[in-house]
Amino acid sequence: MKKRILTGDRPTGPLHVGHYVGSLKQRVELQHEYDSYILIADVQALTDNFEHPEKISKNVIEVALDYLAVGIDPKEATIVVQSGVPEIAELTVFYMNLVTVGRLEQNPTVKTELKTKSFNGGVPLGFFAYPVSQAADITAFQANLVPVGEEQLPMIEQTREIVRKFNRLYGEVLIEPEARLSKFSRLVGTDGKEKMSKSLGNVINLSDSREVVHAKVMKMYTDPTRKRATDPGHVKGNPVFTYLDAFNPYERDVTELKVRYEEGKVGDVEVKERLAEVLNTVLDPIRKRREEYADNPKKVLKMLKEGTERGRDVASETLQLVKKAMQVKYW
Ligand code: TRP
Repeated sequence: MKKRILTGDRPTGPLHVGHYVGSLKQRVELQHEYDSYILIADVQALTDNFEHPEKISKNVIEVALDYLAVGIDPKEATIVVQSGVPEIAELTVFYMNLVTVGRLEQNPTVKTELKTKSFNGGVPLGFFAYPVSQAADITAFQANLVPVGEEQLPMIEQTREIVRKFNRLYGEVLIEPEARLSKFSRLVGTDGKEKMSKSLGNVINLSDSREVVHAKVMKMYTDPTRKRATDPGHVKGNPVFTYLDAFNPYERDVTELKVRYEEGKVGDVEVKERLAEVLNTVLDPIRKRREEYADNPKKVLKMLKEGTERGRDVASETLQLVKKAMQVKYW
């Protein structure tokens, strides 16, 4: 039997090229080899966007389009909308008994996120407890493997702890998942900041047009110490080269360009022109496929509904086993 993988995204905005190298590309490659489930985590997204539900509902379809555009094949992988699987919420309630408040306070991902979010009026309980609901996502689908970026590792660790505790108390029911780290977990932003992120306005979206991609690349942050094209440039920590490494399939090409850059024999404009072309070559087929699906929203919704129903079947099987093990099944 094929091993099962679960991946997921919060639908807070369209997906960008950072998502592509960090996870989407890998998902497309793995979809044949594994039994793949992809979760559009709208319930989780609401935990820090509950004041703007329209933002989440609008982006569920955008994210679905991005998945299809990059080559996720709904015949190979099952795309599931989280809110359509209430069994996850039920599992979350049971798992809450197995996690302490103190443990959640120590969760590094929650800690970092709390710092950047500044919830005035206090931390919502739903947000605070989302690692528990993510454990419910992962176990509901009986996933063996969870491909993630580094910042998600604490979530997998939390899940593993819940699984071990559950199985110890109630019997071997849940599968203890393993994380699988992606090679490029965080792509720097076009401004050179640590992470490409919609809220920082430093992203190149998968749905950006050729012209927009070109304009964004031409404005990219490069080597601030370099005044003229004849000055020797720095490649390390230069986002233009980071992107070339991530997207150019021809390593020799990039190596040659790096040497010239370091010797002051190529200008920023030429390097950026090259990068814009490389990115657009990767994005051309993605944009084309996106347009085809975007023209047919009914078909996309049908695919989402069917995927969610299939996901629900698996989750409800898990829930039945959980309830039986916890002796809350009376007939
Ligand atoms: N927390 C993940 C993120 O912010 C999204 C997510 C929700 C997820 N449920 C998941 C990822 C289950 C992997 C498995 O990116």
